[in-house]
Amino acid sequence: MDGNGRWAKSRGWKRVRGHQEGVNSVRAITTECARLGVQSLTLYAFSVENWKRPKAEINFLMKLLRSFLVDERPTLMENNIRLHCIGRLDDLPAESLKELRETEAMTKDHDGMVLRLALSYGSRSELADAARAMAEDVQAGKLEPSAIHDETLREYLYDPSTPDPDLLIRTAGEMRLSNFLLWQISYAEFFVAAMGWPEFREDALHVALDNYGGRTRKFGGLVSDVAPETPAPTQGR
Ligand code: IPE
Ligand code: MG
Repeated sequence: MDGNGRWAKSRGWKRVRGHQEGVNSVRAITTECARLGVQSLTLYAFSVENWKRPKAEINFLMKLLRSFLVDERPTLMENNIRLHCIGRLDDLPAESLKELRETEAMTKDHDGMVLRLALSYGSRSELADAARAMAEDVQAGKLEPSAIHDETLREYLYDPSTPDPDLLIRTAGEMRLSNFLLWQISYAEFFVAAMGWPEFREDALHVALDNYGGRTRKFGGLVSDVAPETPAPTQGR
């Protein structure tokens, strides 16, 4: 979710107004994805690198996160969405973490879309945390080094139940990954939208999904290997 600051600055406003407006995009995109039958939506809300920002902006973002976690409960309840957060969550202020755990608990039995919020998230940190946990299990005799395969690593990621993303959308025209789900997106399709996140609403999502629907995914194989019954992502609207 990039370009909040630039969106606000280009209108002569303070950067934080972009973050505020970005929350409306989060609500719009989350609700629309749930309506369309998307199973899993991961939003990159705050990275481990974002702690380098000025203290005032960080404080604003943490307050915004806290109010988001409280104010959006009805949205999550009405849309049968389960919230699950990933990242180094212990880095978050205690009040934000408390609301986060409460919202997760309130939505834990929902069987619709899973909304994953990446907070104090970095893919390299996730992989380092996974490697450490794996090394500890080897040391404790619970894991044989010879038994470590591609999928073993998944079990040590922050949320092993996260399906590999099909589509990665980045806003504000940037063509980089910025330490996001590096292991998980091995075969994700990319879509870059020129607009900043505060402007990215339902119509923009539909453009991205229509574009994704026109891609041919081969996963390193040939077209004939791909199951023809894979449902088109734009179904249901
Ligand atoms: C994304 O918008 C929001 C966060 C990273 C929290 P930015 O704050 O990165 O906005 P730009 O990139 O400076 O415009
Ligand atoms: Mg940015």
